[in-house]
Amino acid sequence: MLGLVVALVATLAAFVYLASEARITARYTLPSSIMRPASTPGAVQRGAHLAMIYGCEDCHTAPGNPAFTGNMLHVQPGLTLAAPNLRRFLKHRGPGLFDIALRRALTPGAQAIWDMPSNAYVYMSDQDMAALLAYFSSLPVIGNAPSGMHFSFRARLAVLAGTLRPANPYGLGLIGPRELGPAYDGGRYLAMMSCSGCHGADLDGKPNGAPDLRVIQAYDRPQFFALLRQGVVPRGRSAPVMAKLARRRFRALKDYEINALYDYLKARAEP
Ligand code: HEC
Ligand code: HEC
Repeated sequence: MLGLVVALVATLAAFVYLASEARITARYTLPSSIMRPASTPGAVQRGAHLAMIYGCEDCHTAPGNPAFTGNMLHVQPGLTLAAPNLRRFLKHRGPGLFDIALRRALTPGAQAIWDMPSNAYVYMSDQDMAALLAYFSSLPVIGNAPSGMHFSFRARLAVLAGTLRPANPYGLGLIGPRELGPAYDGGRYLAMMSCSGCHGADLDGKPNGAPDLRVIQAYDRPQFFALLRQGVVPRGRSAPVMAKLARRRFRALKDYEINALYDYLKARAEP
């Protein structure tokens, strides 16, 4: 009897392992990309700014190490991923595969990307992509390449249940936040690139604690500047994650960018 139970449990565990492994390592057809680094004046500087406000630095840099030399991310209990050394990646894999990882959500091995907000980067403009490439190719290639990916049994169960998913390859089937016409396109685009990774593709919030960005209704313009630049929230609330992001990332947002975000989010929040 005991032998039977043990055998059953072992079979179930093997099933979970194999079925989740099949999803994790599923392969797709790699598209091609002709993206090249921009050579226009100012492109490197523009790329550096984008790398900051789009969050590349945060995920791809280990504390105390030079920027973009990679990091091991403990995404959630039981899931550890290596965010690669972007300097090395670009040098060894080239701009095409760099572009495909970001905007088609596929690794050079043709597998779906985990955790990176490629569901948002899918919409990145060619101009921004070329500026990012110009910036990353201007950096000296240093540092090692962290590697490895670990899914615990619990994470594998979540993969099977569909609650833990990679980015959508090619960006198929995604719905962006509400469109409100050309006057708001700039703010909408920035919200997709900089905010939707946590606040959800439609900005309606995610179960991870990032609220629907209709919370903007409680903010006037100076308060919104204070949130993004200093991480200060209106009285009676606290936002530890946003406070950290203000210090590390959003401090770099320019006035016109914060204004565009504010205008779009306000207009979107109107019933
Ligand atoms: C939320 C964290 C996060 C952010 C933000 C992020 N990345 Fe990543 N990135 C990752 C992780 C994790 C991987 C590895 C994914 C995998 O192996 O499935 C990765 C992989 C990559 C890869 C290579 C894919 C590969 O297969 O090795 C490139 C190129 C890349 N990121 C560039 C960028 C750039 C450029 C930005 C900013 C525009 C950025 N990333 C923002 C977490 C992030
Ligand atoms: C790395 C994840 C992440 C990113 C990226 C992010 N947020 Fe948040 N945001 C959160 C979380 C989590 C909260 C909940 C409060 C907290 O813990 O800071 C939050 C809360 C907020 C709030 C509500 C604060 C309050 O009044 O309670 C606003 C407004 C907000 N975010 C705006 C933005 C905007 C605008 C962007 C893009 C420029 C952005 N966030 C990008 C994770 C994120």
